Amino acid sequence: MRVLAQLAFLVALAGAGRAADLGEEWSGGETTVFDTTRNAFSLPAHNLAGERRAAFFVGNSFFNQNWITAPGSPAARDGLGPLFNTRSCSACHFKDGRSRPPEPGQPMAVMLLRISVPGAGAHGGARPDPVYGDQIQGDAILGVPREADVLVDYTEKPGTFADGEKYSLRHPRYRLENLGYGPVAKNLLTSPRTAPAMIGMGLLEAVPEAALRALADPEDNNRDGISGKINRVWSMAKKGMAVGRFGWKAEQPTVLEQTAGAFAGDIGITSSLAPEENHTARQEVCVKQPNGGAPEASDRILHDVAFYGRTLGVPARRHWSDPRVRRGQVLFTELQCAACHVPELKTGDWPEFPELARQTIRPYTDLLLHDLGEELADDRPVFQAGGREWRTTPLWGIGLVERVNGHTFFLHDGRARNLTEAILWHGGEAEASREKFRALSRADRAAVIAFLESL
Ligand code: HEC
Ligand code: HEC
Repeated sequence: MRVLAQLAFLVALAGAGRAADLGEEWSGGETTVFDTTRNAFSLPAHNLAGERRAAFFVGNSFFNQNWITAPGSPAARDGLGPLFNTRSCSACHFKDGRSRPPEPGQPMAVMLLRISVPGAGAHGGARPDPVYGDQIQGDAILGVPREADVLVDYTEKPGTFADGEKYSLRHPRYRLENLGYGPVAKNLLTSPRTAPAMIGMGLLEAVPEAALRALADPEDNNRDGISGKINRVWSMAKKGMAVGRFGWKAEQPTVLEQTAGAFAGDIGITSSLAPEENHTARQEVCVKQPNGGAPEASDRILHDVAFYGRTLGVPARRHWSDPRVRRGQVLFTELQCAACHVPELKTGDWPEFPELARQTIRPYTDLLLHDLGEELADDRPVFQAGGREWRTTPLWGIGLVERVNGHTFFLHDGRARNLTEAILWHGGEAEASREKFRALSRADRAAVIAFLESL
């Protein structure tokens, strides 16, 4: 099967001649990989060649490896913590896919709880809790208290489709237990987030700012009820403001900065871009711990891991010409899903990454922030993103999540147990879309889902 698909790929590439002529099943343009196994999210971009493939595998090994406590041997991979969430990137981005929320009664392990207090912090970002900082780390090295356990409970709320069929949505409530450093701020703001899949990150970074500005409509001047705005965020690399693209609220501008932020925030590994350890001055026992050098991850390692994140291939669509999938695709446009989940974008020039330049891609996102209503709100603003706003999630690869990660938990906190529930949670600017979906016949609802599963 796999060999056949690869053959089909070569034939199509030869026949198409130009990247722009590739069919819509080529979700990632010429980076597209034809693999439907559990490894579907883990392959190098199809058009990545020679030495660059070798660099990909070096980055891959640092993405997968466990970091160890300092002083350790080899020194190149010590410096874990003192506070951390997991020991490796891949613990959360398992098989380069997405993580799942904890079971009720189990502490959060492979997702994040971002925290802050009201008011703007440095450069207009979120303002950290004075003791716990901007994220709860549920683990720590020996001799250092862990920050807290994050637990979730759900309450079911029933609803009905227009045809009378019933459904139920589970509303999460997160709480902190076993606080290791005394109380958190009284007015603490929290935002639980699962780890998204890693595919196509470099392509999204390569979409020109002008394209995003053209899609944005912050005042809803075209009066379609859908606005869409750019998040402007702090860039550690530029030491200035930049367009935000990554994370559920588009709060990081580049894969490199997201990587440096993850090393520091999630694993406790400093780098030249994020040189501070992730504890506050009030967490005194952390201040006294030995570190793994300054910085703990060399620029080499940081760039290798970012290179890896940028050059993972995007899996091709499956069953795209199936009549039911085609019907779902038509409905996807009719329901105005495509107003936010924009099917097609073009990447610009990028001399360091010729593989990612001038590609026609089908990510099903506009990378913009939208108000999705009160029920999905985290009420924790960050830069321009308000408490009800989220970045339109790219939908490419979504039909392979079950195969790769063995679950179908969707939305920023994994509250949706399947794709239907994910749609039913849409409110705010997407409420009209959701209502049209609720009004569809059973067969048409199944067609929309079949279309999503083909992505
Ligand atoms: C504790 C779990 C966890 C670990 C460990 C982790 N991540 Fe993530 N990752 C997340 C979460 C959660 C998000 C979404 C962040 C947000 O919304 O701000 C994310 C987002 C990302 C994104 C952007 C995805 C997107 O769709 O915008 C990239 C790239 C990424 N991580 C890379 C890494 C790398 C590289 C490492 C290791 C250095 C790493 N992550 C370690 C949980 C994790
Ligand atoms: C106003 C913009 C907007 C519209 C319209 C819209 N969406 Fe979304 N969609 C979003 C945003 C923003 C999110 C992320 C919300 C979150 O995680 O809390 C999202 C999330 C999703 C997800 C979950 C993705 C994931 O990986 O977790 C699916 C599936 C989805 N949308 C499908 C649809 C479908 C189908 C429609 C049409 C019926 C639709 N959306 C209409 C903006 C929109």
